[in-house]
Amino acid sequence: MRFTVAIDGPAAAGKGTIGRAVAREYGFAHLDTGLLYRAVGLAALEASDGVIDPVLAERIATELTEDDLARPDLRGSRAARAASKVAALPRVRAALLDFQRRFARREGGAVLDGRDIGTVICPEAEVKLFVTASEETRAARRHAELSAADPALTVGQVLADLRSRDARDSQRADAPLRRADDAVLLDTTELSIDAAVAEATALIRARIEQG
Ligand code: DC
Repeated sequence: MRFTVAIDGPAAAGKGTIGRAVAREYGFAHLDTGLLYRAVGLAALEASDGVIDPVLAERIATELTEDDLARPDLRGSRAARAASKVAALPRVRAALLDFQRRFARREGGAVLDGRDIGTVICPEAEVKLFVTASEETRAARRHAELSAADPALTVGQVLADLRSRDARDSQRADAPLRRADDAVLLDTTELSIDAAVAEATALIRARIEQG
């Protein structure tokens, strides 16, 4: 069976948690596409003198393999900032397109989460979700994730970081963050993880039963 679930939304809205949970529920493969941009961004940053070289970033994107997605430091804020910068480069996005499309149409079903899955990568996805939450809620959640490794980090710093990333991701010319017209909106500000997962699961079940 080929079945694609596309999950998009701003940073720290709950896309990854929902994506992993529904993938487990249905036995689908899951790809956090942010990791692709994080891996390219971090490698390009490390190979630079602080300013990312677009040509180098494109080459890194072309040569990226699944093994490159296992680096533990990809989850941190440095990788997030670098990711948002290389994600604005059309050639980097183009270099990552095939990998994501192949993943989406693999046998057995796939869940992809990111910013442009329902709009650009898989416009034909069987289920599309746009997951969002208030800025404050997202900043508090991301702070809880990051503060164990970085106790000096404040919620205010995380919020400022999220805002600048959201602005860059939404305002770039190529594949900006946008809700697809046919995506179901899931606002997780007032929802527990379990409730959000239950809503997503019910939507997918309804679509599977529809055939
Ligand atoms: O979801 P994340 O925080 O790991 O994403 C990191 C950055 O990568 C984010 O700022 C935007 C970019 N990104 C993107 O442009 N398109 C995607 N499909 C996924 C992430």
